[in-house]
Amino acid sequence: MAVIEINDLSKSYRSGKAVDGVSLRVERGEIFGIAGPNGAGKTTVVECASGLRRRDGGTLRVLGLDPQSDRRELLQRIGVQLQEAALPDAIKVGEALRMYASFYDKPADWRELMDEWGLTDKRRAGFASLSGGWKQRLFIALALVGDPEVVFLDELTTGLDPSARRTTWGLVRTMRERGVTVVLVTHFMDEAEALCDRIAIIDRGRVVAEGSPDELIRRAKSDSLDNAFFALTGRETA
Ligand SMILES: Nc1ncnc2c1ncn2[C@@H]1O[C@H](COP(=O)(O)OP(=O)(O)O)[C@@H](O)[C@H]1O
Ligand SMILES: [Mg+2]
Repeated sequence: MAVIEINDLSKSYRSGKAVDGVSLRVERGEIFGIAGPNGAGKTTVVECASGLRRRDGGTLRVLGLDPQSDRRELLQRIGVQLQEAALPDAIKVGEALRMYASFYDKPADWRELMDEWGLTDKRRAGFASLSGGWKQRLFIALALVGDPEVVFLDELTTGLDPSARRTTWGLVRTMRERGVTVVLVTHFMDEAEALCDRIAIIDRGRVVAEGSPDELIRRAKSDSLDNAFFALTGRETA
């Protein structure tokens, strides 16, 4: 059974259509990439799927639940790291983990998680004092503190230097090895290629291509597909 089933999802803001008929299936245990340029509608899809935003149309099932009508139950079973995530400057790493753990009926052991993700030495550090890489590491740990089956990661490595990005990629792979299904949103095509089992490329609110990284590259070359792929990768056709 698919862990996430999105059919014909649509969502408009006052500014216009952000998501225009998106359909996706994510299977259990995969890293599924949602890639595409800024403004394509990626974050809106994730917000609708994680129960944080109401859709205008379409059907959505995550772990068999409707993110709108079963929101409370769903939020107990998923983890979300949002693009615009922020914490109070003064909150300490340990406090943040303990607080997030308190939101869940059956949380993971936050001290263990802190240890696993290498955050124990930083437990008394205030959020504002952390570098970008450490902040992202904390956000990953926070997304996992509810012991979720599905994790949504939105632009996890935006703003990180290349070495912190590589480290973060390793952390995402570790997540998958532990059996968590990962939905990774990124506007970096190299990141989607490096990490994802399958990728949907979204442009102007629509899925313009979908497949494994290899399939997408092959198809793009043979069809000279005129889509966001080239703009994203800067790839030349052979
Ligand atoms: N809260 C909002 N209010 C109004 N417009 C929004 C809001 N969030 C996103 N948009 C608009 O919807 C479109 C899709 O945005 P978004 O889902 O954030 O795309 P992406 O994550 O791919 O960059 C963009 O044109 C954006 O400006
Ligand atoms: Mg976004």
